[in-house]
Amino acid sequence: MINALRGFRDILPPDSEMFAEIEGKAREIFGLYGYRELRIPTLEKKELFIKSTGTTTDIVQKEMYAFSDAGGREIACRPEGTPGIARAYIEHNLNQSGRNSKFFYVANMFRAERPQAGRYREFEQIGAENIGNASPAADAETIAMLVSLLEKIGIKELTVDINSLGCAECRKTYREELLQFLRQHKETLCEACQGRIELNPLRALDCKIDGGRLAETAPVMKLCPECEKHFNQTQKLLGIAGISFRVNRNLVRGLDYYTRTVFEVRSNAIGSQDAIAAGGRYDGLIKSMGGPDVPAIGWAMGVDRVALLVNAAREAAGIAKDGNTVRTFVLASVKSAPEEAATKGFMLLNMLRKAGISADFSNFEASFKSQMRSADKSGADFALIIGEDELKNGTVSVKDLRNKSEQKQIRFEEVADKLAIINE
Ligand code: HAM
Repeated sequence: MINALRGFRDILPPDSEMFAEIEGKAREIFGLYGYRELRIPTLEKKELFIKSTGTTTDIVQKEMYAFSDAGGREIACRPEGTPGIARAYIEHNLNQSGRNSKFFYVANMFRAERPQAGRYREFEQIGAENIGNASPAADAETIAMLVSLLEKIGIKELTVDINSLGCAECRKTYREELLQFLRQHKETLCEACQGRIELNPLRALDCKIDGGRLAETAPVMKLCPECEKHFNQTQKLLGIAGISFRVNRNLVRGLDYYTRTVFEVRSNAIGSQDAIAAGGRYDGLIKSMGGPDVPAIGWAMGVDRVALLVNAAREAAGIAKDGNTVRTFVLASVKSAPEEAATKGFMLLNMLRKAGISADFSNFEASFKSQMRSADKSGADFALIIGEDELKNGTVSVKDLRNKSEQKQIRFEEVADKLAIINE
């Protein structure tokens, strides 16, 4: 017996249907905001993530699924979507298309993290990237879009934390200040942070081990007048959009490319500490990758985590998790003419589906009792039965499986039409 890899999972029905439902709602919201889908490859050159996600991040230092292929190329399974979108934007000169560069993706990501509930090694993100718009209105729009998506999905008790990480100027002074503070506390830092504070002191504030403790006493970044203005305007517009949020000056995020606005969304509904979605501005990333000097902002939502929350909420509300079922179930059981009955049953299935009515069957060769058991289990509303009499008269018996009412015989040719009325 070969099992799935640790942290990699099968998404079985009805959970798979829940994923599709979430994706469907996201597509509707993206349409409202003018986002279009960009499908990026699963594998990229490893270098892409080193240059964008960042050398001092946990993702690049510890969590990447990277390997060299048969041709000796260094390859990585994408741990996040932003670098691939930025690469595609540069590679296809999308800044010259004259259109808004607002892209979304629905894609699986790979990170070799320690698996736990809501944290997997392969997981799905729905992400949005708005490239080319430096206005605080883009920040507010992006966050408002995320909140309206989560609300549409039915996530309750949302908290939105926002912060500004400033620009290169704000950071220059802050970096020194923070570094001094961290050097004073060096002995108390974890091994990874001890090794990276000189390269990227901000990373320590986001460390899973020390981050929370350090953030309590660490100095807070002072913003330059331009960044301050941007941050204030973003907050004002979020207020206008009716979004409740909290300014959290300790929020730093675990990726290297962020500038100015960053944000994280959590839900207290099941007491989980993990973010269900997060993002921010990355005004310098595309230029640093060899592309044009364009600002950008985006976010990604963890679909696995959102699905867990929706399931928990539905369970608490007593809503059954039954998922998709078929509308009709066809039974054919005629001892004296099994093949003829099976052929009729098969024709009936075809007729129903052509008429847009979902239909299923089990095994026409099995006993009537066993076929009836399958019909009951299928969750179908109607059983359509072809027995001895029906075969002779050219009819089908319709049994309402929900209301257990009397069976009705209808003419074989009329089944689809008659059921189509019920189907409406
Ligand atoms: P991130 O914070 O690394 O940001 O991931 C975004 C979301 O993906 C998280 O809030 C979480 O819901 C989900 N997630 C992350 N790791 C896991 C995991 N191991 N298992 C399940 N879910 C997970 C980014 O990836 C950025 N690319 C977001 C962004 C887009 N920033 C700008 N544009």
